[in-house]
Amino acid sequence: MQIELTVEDSDADTTYPLWRDVLREGRPVPRLADPAGTFHLAARTSDGRLVGVVRFSPARCPWRTAENPWQLRGMATDPTVRGSGAGRALVAEGLARLAAVGADLVWCDARVPAVGFYERMGFAVVTEQFDKPEGGAHRGMVTVPERRAASSVRVP
Ligand SMILES: CC(C)(COP(=O)(O)OP(=O)(O)OC[C@H]1O[C@@H](n2cnc3c(N)ncnc32)[C@H](O)[C@@H]1OP(=O)(O)O)[C@@H](O)C(=O)NCCC(=O)NCCS
Repeated sequence: MQIELTVEDSDADTTYPLWRDVLREGRPVPRLADPAGTFHLAARTSDGRLVGVVRFSPARCPWRTAENPWQLRGMATDPTVRGSGAGRALVAEGLARLAAVGADLVWCDARVPAVGFYERMGFAVVTEQFDKPEGGAHRGMVTVPERRAASSVRVP
């Protein structure tokens, strides 16, 4: 069931607690340096409850060459709203903004259970499975934001 949501600009202080709880089982998230251009997005329900977060920052892609690559990190939604469109709303907003600033690649280390979610968002798997100390098995995934409106996504 879709719910009424707004997606707004946010910051690390606001978004890290949900990141910590969902992605680190409550363990603190080391504060990342935010390179120029980094933005944090927050999804809220109509009563103002924070139910989803994500961070986008300029970062070289480990697997593909690009002029203006960006990394998606800290993608988390509150378990009580999963399947309601919060994750989609956050990624769609981020990709739209990145298309507007000329990003030619967006990449992420996708947890294996979330790969299907990213595929729904237009990302494609480009690596074998690899392990990370936090979060276990991952696959590398990429998308090209300006091409998302097309019927197919070209992966460079
Ligand atoms: C992955 C996650 C962010 C998805 O958020 P969500 O709020 O449930 O996503 P949405 O409701 O917007 O789902 C969008 C679409 O993806 C699908 N989807 C969601 N999670 C999925 C999954 N794990 N596998 C396959 N499809 C998934 C939904 O069914 C929906 O499909 P639709 O296009 O038919 O509507 C959320 O489950 C989460 O926070 N998981 C734990 C943390 C995590 O793994 N984060 C990613 C780390 S890389």
